Amino acid sequence: MALLDRVAVVGSRGQLGVDVMAAFADRAPLALDRPAFDLERPESMAALLAEHRPTLVINTAAFHDVERCETEPALAFAVNTLGADALAAACRDAGAALMHVSTDYVFDGAARTPYPESAPPAPLSAYAISKAAGERMIARHGDAWFVVRTCGLYGVAGSRVKGTTFAETMLRKARAGEHIRVVSDQTVAPSHTRDVAQGMRAIAESERFGIYHVTNAGACTWYEFAAEIFRQAGIAAHLSPISSTEFTTRARRPAYSVLANDGLRAIGYAMPTWQQGLHDYLLAKGLLTAPA
Ligand SMILES: NC(=O)c1ccc[n+]([C@@H]2O[C@H](COP(=O)([O-])OP(=O)(O)OC[C@H]3O[C@@H](n4cnc5c(N)ncnc54)[C@H](OP(=O)(O)O)[C@@H]3O)[C@@H](O)[C@H]2O)c1
Repeated sequence: MALLDRVAVVGSRGQLGVDVMAAFADRAPLALDRPAFDLERPESMAALLAEHRPTLVINTAAFHDVERCETEPALAFAVNTLGADALAAACRDAGAALMHVSTDYVFDGAARTPYPESAPPAPLSAYAISKAAGERMIARHGDAWFVVRTCGLYGVAGSRVKGTTFAETMLRKARAGEHIRVVSDQTVAPSHTRDVAQGMRAIAESERFGIYHVTNAGACTWYEFAAEIFRQAGIAAHLSPISSTEFTTRARRPAYSVLANDGLRAIGYAMPTWQQGLHDYLLAKGLLTAPA
């Protein structure tokens, strides 16, 4: 039986989940969502996986409100750690491989060159610790798993948690004539969920289990990302850089969380640049008025 025979997607209504459903559309993926399929209720997962017997389960679902995770660590661990653990156990019992989505935040950001898949995690926040622990819990149930770490997601569906994307927020503020201040000391690889989903498809097709970093290519600060959004959208904005110390948050975030897409390269797959990913997103959203 091939890995792609029966694909199921957990969190199919999420920002990434919508694009994963599209990237595997030719496999007619089964959507597994709350309340019927709940990472907080192991029995709900075991029952549905035993019934449908998928060959590959792709988990895009998480509790990833980074600020709320600081004050609700029990919920972060219930979903991101124990939920991932129970899902991996249910996959093992149903004979399914698991592709689980994780985060650049598993790293502390002390590096100044892109993190390879083999770099040791050193998470800083409750969210990041719960996700790093989730990765480890999955690995205890066998070898039939992929962990896909990604970064700075935005997609046409918009984040379920935030209800919008960074780009949409920037454009709304610019149109309202606001003075926009964006942190210029956090370096990331902002990633279009459509590109990430296609990278995930390539990984699944490779059938080579393990950890993969899947982001758009290149790197920028959030400030540089905002400037590029305004440039591509052809909108003049009053934008200035600030440091993260001026923008107080509960959760500590890595100053540098660029991921080297080495695993993808090893299977012969190249991700588009973050500028291209942004262009495609703005085009799909009807927000592009200037050439990229
Ligand atoms: N957003 C980022 O910038 C970013 C960066 C790096 C990594 N990631 C990771 O990427 C993945 C996808 O993020 P996203 O931006 O697509 O998130 P999203 O739009 O907020 O979607 C998250 C999905 O998770 C589902 N979910 C939450 N708790 C659940 C539970 N207990 N049981 C079942 N489903 C549950 C939600 O279900 P409902 O539809 O019922 O709300 C929603 O569909 C997550 O694993 C996240 O940790 C995100």
